[in-house]
Amino acid sequence: MAQSFSDTTNAPVTRRGFIQFLLGFSVVSTIVGMLVPVVGFLLPKSSAADTGAPVEVGKAEDFGPGSGKIVSVNDKPVIVVNGKSGGLKAFTAICTHLGCIVLWDARKNSIACPCHDGFFNPVTGAVVSGPPPKPLTQYEVIVKDGKVMIGKQLS
Ligand code: FES
Repeated sequence: MAQSFSDTTNAPVTRRGFIQFLLGFSVVSTIVGMLVPVVGFLLPKSSAADTGAPVEVGKAEDFGPGSGKIVSVNDKPVIVVNGKSGGLKAFTAICTHLGCIVLWDARKNSIACPCHDGFFNPVTGAVVSGPPPKPLTQYEVIVKDGKVMIGKQLS
C-alpha cells in the first residue's frame, strides 16, 4: 500500500512563515476586538420582559380618585394618575427636560417635576408650565377584572 507524501504538512516552519502567521493572527484579532463592541452597541437591546403585552401594575382601588403613583413597566418608570377629570391615565415618569422622575402633585392636580418646577397636564401629558420642551409620552391603560394594566405606548 503506497502513500503519497507530496503534501507540505511535514514541511519545516520557516522563520518568515512563523512571523507572517503571527502578523496575520494579530491583525485578525485586532479587527475582531474592534468589531465586537461596535456590533454589540449597534444591536438593539432585547429584554425578555419587554414583550409588548400589557403589564399588570396593581388593583383598581390602588389608583383612587385624586391619586398618582409611580410603577415599573418593563423596568421603566411610569406614572399612573387618576386626576379630577379624565380617569386613569399613564405616562412615562421621565421628564422631557433633563430626565428627572416626575411626581404626582395632588394639591395642584398635576404631574410635577421637582427638578425645575415643570408641570404636566394629568389628562394629556402636555406641558403646563416650566422648561420641559415636550409632553410626556402616554401609555394605554386597561382595567380588567379589577386589575390595572399598562399597555402600548400611545404617543
Ligand atoms: S428635569 Fe424636569 S423640569 Fe427639568
